[in-house]
Amino acid sequence: MTYYSKIIGTGSYLPEKVLTNRDLEAIMDTSDEWIFSRTGIRQRHIAADNENTSDLALVASRRAIEAAGITPQDIGLIVLATSTPDMVFPSVACFLQAKLGIKGSPAFDVQAVCSGFVYGLAIADQFMKSGQYEHILVVGAEIFSRILDWNDRGTCVLFGDGAGAVVLKKSTAPGILSSHLHADGNYANILSVPGSVSGGKVSGQPLLQMEGGTVFKFAVKVLGEVAEEALAANQLQKSDIDWLIPHQANMRIIQATARKLGLDMDKVVATVERHANTSAASVPLALDEAVRDGRIRAGQHVLLEGVGGGFTWGAVLVKW
Ligand code: UT7
Repeated sequence: MTYYSKIIGTGSYLPEKVLTNRDLEAIMDTSDEWIFSRTGIRQRHIAADNENTSDLALVASRRAIEAAGITPQDIGLIVLATSTPDMVFPSVACFLQAKLGIKGSPAFDVQAVCSGFVYGLAIADQFMKSGQYEHILVVGAEIFSRILDWNDRGTCVLFGDGAGAVVLKKSTAPGILSSHLHADGNYANILSVPGSVSGGKVSGQPLLQMEGGTVFKFAVKVLGEVAEEALAANQLQKSDIDWLIPHQANMRIIQATARKLGLDMDKVVATVERHANTSAASVPLALDEAVRDGRIRAGQHVLLEGVGGGFTWGAVLVKW
């Protein structure tokens, strides 16, 4: 028997506090005009001091579980993508499991930075194909505001906090058609948080640093390539894509990717203006928005794409 993963529920959560470009103008040498024209970002959400990544994940997960019409007890596996865990260990997935009031089933984190959700979805799909699980919860959750150098205007204006989640159900009809993951560790230094814990102290600099221009070019190149790879694997044409949901880092990267695929922007889900770059949370946040407002409908082809630190990138093609 061939099993597929069907996405039967989506959910998301954005922290209450909104930080606009205008707010940033008051605290650093920047402008709404510079940020919006370079990135398409107008605002980002910032987690409260008492919120942890698992708290954001919990709200998004509850919403996805409710939309799926199941209960937390029905979840057989939790896969959670993050680069900003509550602590070194245990995993955010384990904290989330406890907060959902369940136990026993496996739960683990995936670390692929902004590709994390696409990686998590691909991993979950492999488990689903084994036929072992009925329902899998896949989450992307981040509090990037805590790893930003707020004195570096070239990076701190780009990111925000949030979480998104999906519930997968075992199905004999598609579902996820295929997933395509890649990494090239030779590019580790173009986007990193070069700090670690050693001997009870933080060594290195645990703040995000990035070669913006190099990341930009790399992202446009690989998002185009991996989309073509996903289409070819399913004998589909570019015109068969009903919705493209790329990682939400920069509107110019999103537009360049759409152009490469010959897609009008009205087939692209973009939330970067309101959410900024929420790393592993960006794709499930955008997906949830497009599902709930009725844009995504049964039978459509939805292409999810991630790209980020590592360097990592990937795509998951879904028949809704
Ligand atoms: O998940 C992947 C995450 N990464 C990304 O998505 C980032 C990809 N890269 C980018 O989006 C772009 O490279 C940036 C938006 C980061 C930068 O855009 P750019 O058009 O390549 O600008 P730049 O880095 O070449 O900087 C141009 C100027 C510089 O001034 P000078 O040296 O030309 O006088 C910067 O100092 O803009 C200045 N600048 C700013 N000015 C006002 C940099 N950041 C800011 C700022 N406000 N926030």
